[in-house]
Amino acid sequence: MVSYKDLGLVNTRDMFAKAIKGGYAIPAFNFNNMEQMQAIISACVECSSPVILQVSSGARKYANQTLLRYMAQGAVEYAKELGKNIPICLHLDHGNSFELCKSCIDMGFSSVMIDGSALPYEENVALTKKVVEYAHQFDVTVEGELGVLAGVEDEVASEHSHYTDPADVEDFVKKTGVDSLAISIGTSHGANKFKPEQCTRNAEGILLPPPLRFDILKEIEKRIPGFPIVLHGSSSVPQEYVKIINTHGGALKDAVGIPEDQLREAAKSAVCKINIDSDGRLAMTAAVRKVFVEHPAEFDPRKYLGPARDELKKLYIHKCENVLGSAGKAE
Ligand code: G3H
Ligand code: 13P
Ligand code: ZN
Repeated sequence: MVSYKDLGLVNTRDMFAKAIKGGYAIPAFNFNNMEQMQAIISACVECSSPVILQVSSGARKYANQTLLRYMAQGAVEYAKELGKNIPICLHLDHGNSFELCKSCIDMGFSSVMIDGSALPYEENVALTKKVVEYAHQFDVTVEGELGVLAGVEDEVASEHSHYTDPADVEDFVKKTGVDSLAISIGTSHGANKFKPEQCTRNAEGILLPPPLRFDILKEIEKRIPGFPIVLHGSSSVPQEYVKIINTHGGALKDAVGIPEDQLREAAKSAVCKINIDSDGRLAMTAAVRKVFVEHPAEFDPRKYLGPARDELKKLYIHKCENVLGSAGKAE
């Protein structure tokens, strides 16, 4: 059993309390490898933002659970070496079983998500409560979810979304004891968040997605005032990356995300954690494809992973400064 406290990590309790009071959101960036971790930490140190390092079960399988855990421990030391002891949380993204959550808690995670959103309500309550009871013994915070996001990823797949029913949230929070709640108000996972027929097109032919359901968010906030809310599926799918990818041999069709001004608006509310994975994937892919096309003789991985890491860092600083409002909040 490893305690996250010995690794220099923090849970989300204090981060979220400050974020709600301050009208900003904590970035939750997914990582699978060293370059992503370096980009996240160096960006958040440079703009002085607290950060949640997020690991999916797919990431655990890909990178190896032990390595990822030591990388998070390394991230704390790396931040100090870069000159700032920013708050860093290590969080399990979309945990789908008690056993997985327990295993992460036992290995030094400071926060876990138990995603029972696809289960019938009472089963979601029972599973979430079981995880909370275990996690809280070790002061590990737990994120639950109500409502289903659409989108298909390696480990997270749901064809249809349904919005969170505000009538459920108070009961869910009370019965489970969760520390934060992920809700569904129109975001979804991946780079194709909406079908073209759900969108309108502007004069340049760019797809404009339907707006987030701020009315549902407001209703939820009314029922559980000051309770930390989490938004998944919050990539904005920057069209400049889509364009670079598609003009350098890629084939991303109708990729569309959540406009950044809507996320900025959400971050001012009780939304205090915003999950971003796909935008990082796009930034890396665009940078790598550009090197491959422009320098076809290049075969040193540092020569394409280096620019990918630089682009990622730029993206994360932009998110903290201009979208989430978390820059400067680690002071
Ligand atoms: O919400 C899902 C995250 O983007 C992680 O995706 O399961 O492909 O690692 P993944
Ligand atoms: P995106 O696919 O929009 O980046 O969402 C990531 C996410 O919700 C991770 O849990
Ligand atoms: Zn998610």
